[in-house]
Amino acid sequence: MGHDRTYWEELWARTLREHADKVAQRAPNAHLIAEVAGLRPGRSLDAGCGHGAETLWLAAHGWNVTAVDFSASALAHARSTADALGPEIAERITWVEGDLGVWAPPRGYFDFVTCLYVHVAGSVDEMVRRLSSGVAPGGTLLMVGHRPIDPVTGSPTAAASQVQVSVESATGALEPSAWDLVVAEERPRAIAGTGVDAVIVARRRAT
Ligand SMILES: C[S@@+](CC[C@H](N)C(=O)[O-])C[C@H]1O[C@@H](n2cnc3c(N)ncnc32)[C@H](O)[C@@H]1O
Repeated sequence: MGHDRTYWEELWARTLREHADKVAQRAPNAHLIAEVAGLRPGRSLDAGCGHGAETLWLAAHGWNVTAVDFSASALAHARSTADALGPEIAERITWVEGDLGVWAPPRGYFDFVTCLYVHVAGSVDEMVRRLSSGVAPGGTLLMVGHRPIDPVTGSPTAAASQVQVSVESATGALEPSAWDLVVAEERPRAIAGTGVDAVIVARRRAT
């Protein structure tokens, strides 16, 4: 089973049709909330924004957000949620239908770039390099990937058929002279029994 645009579009269309209530209740990502807490709001990128929980949270906390996903259904749902919250939120967000296999941010434009739980068809290193090129000097990168094997049980997780970021792939893609690593570790997921997340936070050096 591939995780291409058709797969995600069908999954989002079905999920939003059948479980819109559950989707609406999903809390924004705890790693993101923790890492953004100390940052001054500016321009942010949510790459693979899905139904927009983190994008909306960022906008509600004063960030301008560029939110990219290749699922038109997820984006339409996210946009209407933002519109319902009012212009103060909605006007801070630019929704972009784009393929993160090729989409590149404007170089050095964003104060905060995040990519949460996105499977890539190509090389993770290449995607990390491409997305991180959008981070401004002094800006922050947050990459999170659900690891395919639960280190406690040795069992495959829900991400077993996917290629998401690992600590090694993300840190290996960042030029050491240009970045300070703030976090590079595996953390247990909030929901018990679903393994660990690789969490990578890096700050681009100002010079
Ligand atoms: C597991 S969901 C995570 C969504 C959100 N970041 C979150 O943490 O809840 C992965 C998201 O990435 C999107 N996605 C996957 N591959 C993509 C690609 N190549 N280009 C753009 N979006 C992609 C999917 O449509 C989906 O919304």
